[in-house]
Amino acid sequence: MLNCGTKLLKAWHVPRKYPVVVLLMFLVSVSIALVLLFQKNDAKPWNRFESLVQFDPRREFRNGTDLIWQIPDSPKAVIFLAHGCSLRAVDFWDRSSKCPECVGLPEDRLLVLHALARKFAVLTVSSAGKCWTFEKERLIVEDIITWWVKRHNLGKLPLVALGASSGGYFVSVIANNLKFNSITLMIAEGLFDQMNIKEDYPPALFVHMPKDTGRKQKITKFMRVLRNKGVDVAEIECMELPLSPTFLSDRIPSLDQIVSVRLFDLFKEKGFVNENGYMKQDGRATPWEDALQDSKINLLEKDLVHPVDEELNLAFAYHEMTSLQSDEIFKWFESHMT
Ligand SMILES: *[C@@H]1O[C@H](CO)[C@@H](O)[C@H](O)[C@H]1NC(C)=O
Repeated sequence: MLNCGTKLLKAWHVPRKYPVVVLLMFLVSVSIALVLLFQKNDAKPWNRFESLVQFDPRREFRNGTDLIWQIPDSPKAVIFLAHGCSLRAVDFWDRSSKCPECVGLPEDRLLVLHALARKFAVLTVSSAGKCWTFEKERLIVEDIITWWVKRHNLGKLPLVALGASSGGYFVSVIANNLKFNSITLMIAEGLFDQMNIKEDYPPALFVHMPKDTGRKQKITKFMRVLRNKGVDVAEIECMELPLSPTFLSDRIPSLDQIVSVRLFDLFKEKGFVNENGYMKQDGRATPWEDALQDSKINLLEKDLVHPVDEELNLAFAYHEMTSLQSDEIFKWFESHMT
């Protein structure tokens, strides 16, 4: 290393040797590129599922909403997934010939892959409006879940549910009627102050982002309420993460690594991230799309905007769906099945 540096230093002072510097710089760039290239595949969280599962969902319309599901070979449990506001069932599944409208948001799709790899049959349903509602819609969806489980002969298997945000409130409510083995409420405290919690309410895991302090307080309060009712509760706290040049391409399948690096540079240049790579604000509050337009680099296809937003929100860790804790979540589901 020392020798190399000395040579470089000398070369700078001797104009004749400029080609050597250029060559060295070229070699350094090539090796960095190679390192990035070989790193690429290891970092992608979906690679571990490649030989285990593939998206192959079925879709059906019923009671004015759409159901998208997939049942793996020899399923050992059933999971109902409830999305947040402004989202739909299609957001959980990658686009394919069987589901051309599917979107496959990065965290949502990873959650489904985790579930399928652990042999959970996965059922997703879209809310009728922007967010879930708790009267007629609750009855309709409870009916759909019961009917679907029966129709696919899955009635003997453990049934669990995970809802994020509005979906978390929804799951907290339907769990007072349907018999779930356990539930996970993600970035949602649930509606426990608006219901008569039944005696055998299922074990509840709260996966939340403590940066949202108001919600954290409510979760602490509701965990105490549930515990006093004899309900098994637990929580997982999700903290902010720093962006790295390949953060976006490591989490969004259709986002190119070069695009990811350039976006990261742009975010640094615009001051959207601090010197350690942490987002200064929520993705929703960061005008990164405007910055992109000003930069005159046409980096993104339109359908990458939502996935990037989701990842920036995840990195900021205030309010977003997350698949990062999937192993802990599914371990928890699996430990509450009998
Ligand atoms: C849902 O649709 C089915 C079949 O059309 C119907 O039998 C059922 O009553 C509906 N459920 C509700 C809650 O409306």
